[in-house]
Amino acid sequence: MPQLGYGVFKVPEEEVYQVVLEALHAGYRSIDTAMIYENEAGVGRALRDSGIPREEIFLTTKVWNANQGYAETLAAFETSLTKLGVDYVDLYLIHLPMPNEDRYMDTWHALEELYKQGKTKAIGVSNFHIPHLKRILEEGTVVPAVNQIELHPFLSQEEIRTFCKEHDILVEAWSPLMKGRDALTEPVITDIATTKDKTPAQVILRWHIQHGIIAIPKSVTPSRIRENLAVFDFELSATEMQQLDALNQNQRTGSNPDEMHKK
Ligand SMILES: NC(=O)c1ccc[n+]([C@@H]2O[C@H](COP(=O)([O-])OP(=O)(O)OC[C@H]3O[C@@H](n4cnc5c(N)ncnc54)[C@H](OP(=O)(O)O)[C@@H]3O)[C@@H](O)[C@H]2O)c1
Repeated sequence: MPQLGYGVFKVPEEEVYQVVLEALHAGYRSIDTAMIYENEAGVGRALRDSGIPREEIFLTTKVWNANQGYAETLAAFETSLTKLGVDYVDLYLIHLPMPNEDRYMDTWHALEELYKQGKTKAIGVSNFHIPHLKRILEEGTVVPAVNQIELHPFLSQEEIRTFCKEHDILVEAWSPLMKGRDALTEPVITDIATTKDKTPAQVILRWHIQHGIIAIPKSVTPSRIRENLAVFDFELSATEMQQLDALNQNQRTGSNPDEMHKK
């Protein structure tokens, strides 16, 4: 799985085709979509038209809350495959645990079945907190390959990262740039960017990379799509990493997954 991918949350179907093609031509080889983004068909069309062999692209999609449950998830997966126009995905995730619904174990067992059938090369979860992960580890037969969570310098998620490391679960950051908000204008980050002759977004993405976190920044701006990929030609010092680590404020841009109810 590439450590840097391209996310397409909130990119409308009519726009997603062009930006995914742009990202693939820029060099991204990992695309993160979801059933609820309602753009899987455009993503799939871009993958096919890119001319890049399917096996060189790492494709992730997710089962939505309303489709949780064993049979429902198997059906939702087939719908996603059809929309994407592929015969397998590389990673299939439970989008949210929805603990109040208490269906994520049934959903997980459906993902295990899809994995055993080879329809998805890997299975994982998203927005799972430690108690939800513990239950999967205790009651499941496959360890999640990935936990995709909100993660950026203002929400560094150290506890979940430590737990995941202990259990060989890769951590993937959603909203790695804090949705383009406060982190990009934070003086500690802009100062490091000036010193390194890089942009604040590149400094943040480099922080993820050096922590071993997978990041999937989203941009519909061609220059930013390229900028976000150009993070492998410089290094942050241990002191700079510590300065970024010290910015944590447990500040979410999204809802707390523990408190979410069915929509
Ligand atoms: N599993 C989940 O529950 C979940 C939740 C949210 C997101 N995600 C995934 O994570 C991906 C990324 O998260 P996200 O889209 O919420 O936020 P993000 O990637 O942190 O930030 C995207 C925002 O930052 C701007 N931006 C991107 N690159 C920039 C740069 N170099 N300089 C300045 N601004 C820049 C973008 O603007 P422009 O587009 O206008 O350039 C956009 O407004 C999503 O697309 C999705 O695939 C998953």
